[in-house]
Amino acid sequence: MQILDGKKTAESIRNELALEVQKRKESGKKTPHLAAVLVGEDGGSLTYVTSKVKTCEKIGFESSLIRYDSSVSEKTLLDKVNELNNDDNIDGFIVQLPLPDHINESLIKSSIHPSKDVDGFHPENIGNMVLNVPGFLPATPAGILELLKRNGVETEGKKCVVVGRSTIVGMPLSILLARNSNPGNCTVTLAHSRTKNLKEICLQADIIVAAIGKPEFITADMVKEGTVVVDVGTTRVPNPERERGWSLKGDVHFEEVSKKCSFITPVPGGVGPMTIASLMLNTLKALELKGQ
Ligand code: GUN
Repeated sequence: MQILDGKKTAESIRNELALEVQKRKESGKKTPHLAAVLVGEDGGSLTYVTSKVKTCEKIGFESSLIRYDSSVSEKTLLDKVNELNNDDNIDGFIVQLPLPDHINESLIKSSIHPSKDVDGFHPENIGNMVLNVPGFLPATPAGILELLKRNGVETEGKKCVVVGRSTIVGMPLSILLARNSNPGNCTVTLAHSRTKNLKEICLQADIIVAAIGKPEFITADMVKEGTVVVDVGTTRVPNPERERGWSLKGDVHFEEVSKKCSFITPVPGGVGPMTIASLMLNTLKALELKGQ
C-alpha cells in the first residue's frame, strides 16, 4: 500500500508556483491576486479560508480576505461580488461555501464573472467542463486528478465508483473521470444516498472516491484488494485527547481499508492540500488568460 501524499504533492506545486511568481516579478509582470469572501463564523470554513490566504503568502501571491457577519444581506454580498468582478487588481476570487440559508447560493455562484471564477462553480465553467473544453475546473476534483497524475496512478479503462453527488465534489469529479482525457477515461458509477447494494457496487471498483461526509463510512468489506481509495471526507469529530477538542475524520475507515488497497489518501494530508494547490493554479491561469 502506498500513501497518496497530498501534502507533499501540494508542496511541489507550491514550489513550482513560487518560482513562476518570482519570474513574473523579475520581468515586471503582475503578481497574481486571489480574494476570498467568508460569511459567518463556521470553524471549518474559517480554517480553509485562512489556509488559502496563508498559501498565497507562502508562494508570493497577493491575497485579500473579505469577511461578513452571518446576517449579511444577499444584496450586500452581490454588490461585493460585482465590485470584485470589476476590480482589475483581483485576478480571481472565491466565496466560501456553505452560505447562510437566507442567501441564494446558486445566484451568488452565477454572479461571479466566469473569467474570475477560480472555484469553477459558475454554470459556464461547469458547462465547459462537461464539454471538455478549456475553463476553470472545480478545485477539489481538479486537485484529485492532479494527485493521481503526479503519483502515477493510471485511470484509463478503470472502473471508478464515486460515492456522493455534491455539486462541489462528487458530481463534477464523476464527469472529469469519465472524460476522454488523462487522467480520465474511467467507467464511472456515481453512487449516493439512494443507491442500492452500495457494498456490491464498491467491490467492483478499481478506484473508489468517498465524498459523502460520513466518518469512516467506507469499510474494508466494501473494498477489493488493490483498489485505489481517495478520501474527500473532513468531518470534525470530538476528541478529548486533543487540546482543540476535535480531530478530522475521513469518509474511509483508514486503519482497515489501508491494509487492502494499492493507494490511499490520508485525512488530513490527502485531498485537502490539493484543493488549495488547484485554487492557486487556477488563480495564476486567470491572470495568464488576461494576457498579463
Ligand atoms: N466549501 C467546501 N469546499 C469549497 C471549495 O472548494 N470552494 C468554496 N468556495 N467553498 C467550499
